[in-house]
Amino acid sequence: MLDIVVIIAGAREGGSGAMVSRWFLGQARRRADLRLDVMDLVRTPLPPIPSARSDGGTGAGVEARGLAARIGAADGFVVITPEHNHGYPADLKLAIDAVRHEWAAKPAAFVSYGGRSGGLRAVEQLRLVFAELHVVSLRDTVGFHLVAERFDEAGEPVEPDGVNGAAKLMLDQLIWWGITLREGRAARPYTR
Ligand SMILES: Cc1cc2nc3c(=O)[nH]c(=O)nc-3n(C[C@H](O)[C@H](O)[C@H](O)COP(=O)(O)O)c2cc1C
Repeated sequence: MLDIVVIIAGAREGGSGAMVSRWFLGQARRRADLRLDVMDLVRTPLPPIPSARSDGGTGAGVEARGLAARIGAADGFVVITPEHNHGYPADLKLAIDAVRHEWAAKPAAFVSYGGRSGGLRAVEQLRLVFAELHVVSLRDTVGFHLVAERFDEAGEPVEPDGVNGAAKLMLDQLIWWGITLREGRAARPYTR
């Protein structure tokens, strides 16, 4: 059993993020080998700015410690993000920066959406940020370009085969990395 935090970033009430997230969680919940902690940043207390980073200790605020506990309990992450002005949204940066060591030596996968880019530029920026935190970012992603046209009125993808297949491949790879890195962390300390 692998513990995965699904971080839902920048999701507007009633917007595309809710549809993308609902679809992705449906796919992930089919996997008997995954235990999901859904962290919708709209509903998650985030630290004020400027925030002290938390390494799980008491020096940081209650919000940062709450985030660190959940990130620390995870074997890996899925980030669901839109693209805002060629980047990823601010709530995600706030959450990332609030946590320090708990990210390290764990994998992250990405589900993105946006206009023409499908959120790919947001994902490429996240790879740079996660590298600083010793997170292994997965090559394969799932992206929805022109997202408003990609779901029907019932909130289902209009081309389910492609995106369901992409989600399966990405989750297979996340599980591979999650197990491999969990075993690695248990076998020997990761040096930062
Ligand atoms: C402030 C803002 C900036 C955006 N910038 C981009 C962008 O640079 N590239 C892109 O592909 N989509 C961009 N979008 C579109 C979003 O990624 C998203 O597809 C769109 O807002 C639909 O999501 P929603 O229904 O939750 O609003 C932007 C949206 C907003 C609100």
